[in-house]
Amino acid sequence: MPAIILAIANQKGGVGKTTASVNIAHILSESQRVLLVDNDPQGNATKCFIQERVAPDSDTLTLYSDNPDDPVAPMVISDRLGLLGTHIHLAAVAERTFEVIFDFRARIHSLRDHYDIIVVDCLPNFGYLLNAALISADYILVPIEMDIFALDGLRDLMGSVERIRNRHNQGLKMLGILPNKVHGAKTRIEKQIEEELMRLYGRLMLGTQITQSIKIPESHANALAITQHAPDSQQSQQYRQLTDELLSRMATMEARP
Ligand SMILES: Nc1ncnc2c1ncn2[C@@H]1O[C@H](COP(=O)(O)OP(=O)(O)OP(=O)(O)O)[C@@H](O)[C@H]1O
Ligand SMILES: [Mg+2]
Repeated sequence: MPAIILAIANQKGGVGKTTASVNIAHILSESQRVLLVDNDPQGNATKCFIQERVAPDSDTLTLYSDNPDDPVAPMVISDRLGLLGTHIHLAAVAERTFEVIFDFRARIHSLRDHYDIIVVDCLPNFGYLLNAALISADYILVPIEMDIFALDGLRDLMGSVERIRNRHNQGLKMLGILPNKVHGAKTRIEKQIEEELMRLYGRLMLGTQITQSIKIPESHANALAITQHAPDSQQSQQYRQLTDELLSRMATMEARP
């Protein structure tokens, strides 16, 4: 089976895309062949793996090359986990012509036979890099923070996803919306926003939510997944539960005619 491509995206910054990408990739790699693509010039996902913001010889920029002879050589993180780290010139992709998004699609699809799942950590703005990921992906997962800005951001994102689905990628499916950094005892505003999200997006809301904890930034500082840094923490268990929920959602969606 060719790899599933999962884009973790939200044009809103700081909501937990990189944290979700890194942790889901780690947990999946316990039993599947996983490639994590750091599709963000900030390089946060790369830093979470190798404590550097750029990966020396294996980088996402090669996915934007129109030369099929340019080798794509992911860095081996562990037996079943590969990384395409960011590159200092990744931001300059925005200055090329729009065809780069189709180069990215062709290159990332050519990697599908080598993995079971490819997770793409996206940057927080609309533009070629995000569009490249969305025209290539099978699924999109959207982490959010439960604040009043989440609703506007989601509306914009849903519009873009719909446009991409209609024009370039009919197979793109919304896998779910993931509330992140939720307070242990939900605040009144979080409860109100949750109600509104359920009303607007119902079945797209995931059952799993990730609560706030200092252990998450600590895990990043140590270049570890939460399951390695604090295996018994609530967030480690929530990320395991989330990964199971995503896999079972994908299985249900695939089974649908
Ligand atoms: N559950 C959590 N509890 C506490 N802090 C968290 C949690 N999830 C993420 N964070 C922290 O929030 C910050 C933003 O997270 P992250 O980098 O994953 O977001 P992002 O959406 O990828 O950001 P960007 O849009 O800049 O790429 C980081 O400092 C991270 O450590
Ligand atoms: Mg990020």
